[in-house]
Amino acid sequence: MTAPTKACQDLARQLSDANAAVFARLGLEPKHAAVRRSDRPDLGEFQCNGALAAAKQIGRKPQEIAADAAAAWDATDLADAPTIAGPGFLNFVTTARALSARAQAIADDPRAGASAVETPRRVLVDYGGPNVAKPMHVGHLRASIIGESLKRIFRFRGDRVWGDAHFGDWGFQMGLLIVALEDELGGLGDPAKVAARLKSLTLEDLEAMYPAAAAKARDDAAFRDRARKATAGLQSGEEPHRTIWRAMHDVSMAALKREFSALGVDFDLWNGESDADPLIPDMVADLKARGLIEEDQGAQVLRVAREGDKRALPPLLVVSSEGTAMYGTTDLATILQREREIDPDLYLYIVDQRQGDHFEQVFRAAELAGYAKREQLEHIGFGTMNGPDGKPFKTRAGGVLKLNDLIEMAREKARARLREAEIGADFSAEEFEDVAHKVAIAALKFADLMNFRGTSYVFDLDRFMSFEGKTGPYLLYAAVRIKSILRKAGEAGVAAAPIVIAAAEERGLALALDGFDAALAQAYDKRAPHFLAEHAFALAQAFSAFYGNCPILQETDAGAQGSRLALAQATLKQLEITLDLLGIAAPERM
Ligand code: ARG
Repeated sequence: MTAPTKACQDLARQLSDANAAVFARLGLEPKHAAVRRSDRPDLGEFQCNGALAAAKQIGRKPQEIAADAAAAWDATDLADAPTIAGPGFLNFVTTARALSARAQAIADDPRAGASAVETPRRVLVDYGGPNVAKPMHVGHLRASIIGESLKRIFRFRGDRVWGDAHFGDWGFQMGLLIVALEDELGGLGDPAKVAARLKSLTLEDLEAMYPAAAAKARDDAAFRDRARKATAGLQSGEEPHRTIWRAMHDVSMAALKREFSALGVDFDLWNGESDADPLIPDMVADLKARGLIEEDQGAQVLRVAREGDKRALPPLLVVSSEGTAMYGTTDLATILQREREIDPDLYLYIVDQRQGDHFEQVFRAAELAGYAKREQLEHIGFGTMNGPDGKPFKTRAGGVLKLNDLIEMAREKARARLREAEIGADFSAEEFEDVAHKVAIAALKFADLMNFRGTSYVFDLDRFMSFEGKTGPYLLYAAVRIKSILRKAGEAGVAAAPIVIAAAEERGLALALDGFDAALAQAYDKRAPHFLAEHAFALAQAFSAFYGNCPILQETDAGAQGSRLALAQATLKQLEITLDLLGIAAPERM
């Protein structure tokens, strides 16, 4: 009987299984047999360090155990018998046959070798989080980029996923805008006058009104008080507050949708804080009835501190002394709403890590109230995008950089880079703009996603936009180059043939292709897209080395030529999937 083909699993998994069988035969615990990519490629492609733990358990020398395991190795189709290094590390080199079969399986698989989760879950990804009437800034850029990627990663792994923008469209900022409008119009008593003003309201108006009102509220207690009252009025459904809110909401929403679409970010739910408002009265009554909230200086709070906390976690403010719902209130009510409407198994909140305490409060409150379990709720924090001074990025004038301006800045730089590289001289104006836009977005997104999300990074458009090195534009260029190779091969009538791995660079490329599934699983498990960014770069580099030494068009052996073509096709497919999981789209040519 021939062994069933295992090539749908990655090589580390195949090796682990074979090694576990060896360990079991030797009476060793199979859990110690795990094989992974080697971090010493000079010694082997894969390694198992488990002989050390296995030896300790049964009181023998690790080197003896390793020698026994190596001698008992029988999966010679998969890898040669392992060599032993240092205190008892097993190093494996896969056979050309196993590598060829694995590359072929990836080439034949529409998912390019990616496995899926065994039990799909329902996952709610809360990301983006822009605020109505305030321009989006670079903090929202990170939330949008990371959230979009995680949403795609979870969906690709087989979960059922909902992305929700959770707009900041409720609360004090709306009250501020209402009183700002009141002052501008000299009162809100005349409905016709209010209606006429709302009709002409633009995003620019709101963007001017908000900072002025926020500044005024800082030094003017009476103004602040009026804004609080207006917030309470809005939340209790008063007019014209509701009408004003609706108009401001709609103007903002249209602009936000444009910006998100430019970024390649799309939500399944375009909900806001306000959508959970109808649940708040019952929620508060329920919390009160169950003795979960208490009065504190006129406000109603839910205590979430626990014994053993390293730092005192302040209580969650559920109802302010003015009777208004707060940021945490809407977040808690939104959990209730999502439980009813979606019933997620897992919630991911992609929000600046400086909001860590807020989410800890909300999550504990949700658990205390029995709305969701603590382990279902995850705050996926991220660091800041910094300026050259190492502080969160500001414009030259010291203000927050608007996302729109940032995207336009990146596009301008992309146009210049394309012209410098003499790319697109023969493109129509439309195609040139499309390519410049894709290069700009790829540069911004990749520069963000290549770092572990918790790490802050410095905004450096020159570096992000380079066609060389670990950048978005380099990866687009790599994808486009393979497309052009495939086009030319097609024109020359070259057809794909079974993959046969021979040259070292073919081996390198097959190993890179094989690494996709593990990168994806890590990105998924750690909620960290940088594992995939890393993979995209490694794959592009392996392809570049491959193509430098293993030509396709000039190859005279039809078998080798067809095999290489199939490898190039598999690489493009996997690279495009990986880029797509990062939220990056490649042009047809550049
Ligand atoms: N609007 C908030 C901000 O700008 C982010 C919202 C994050 N999501 C949430 N469920 N609280 O900081």
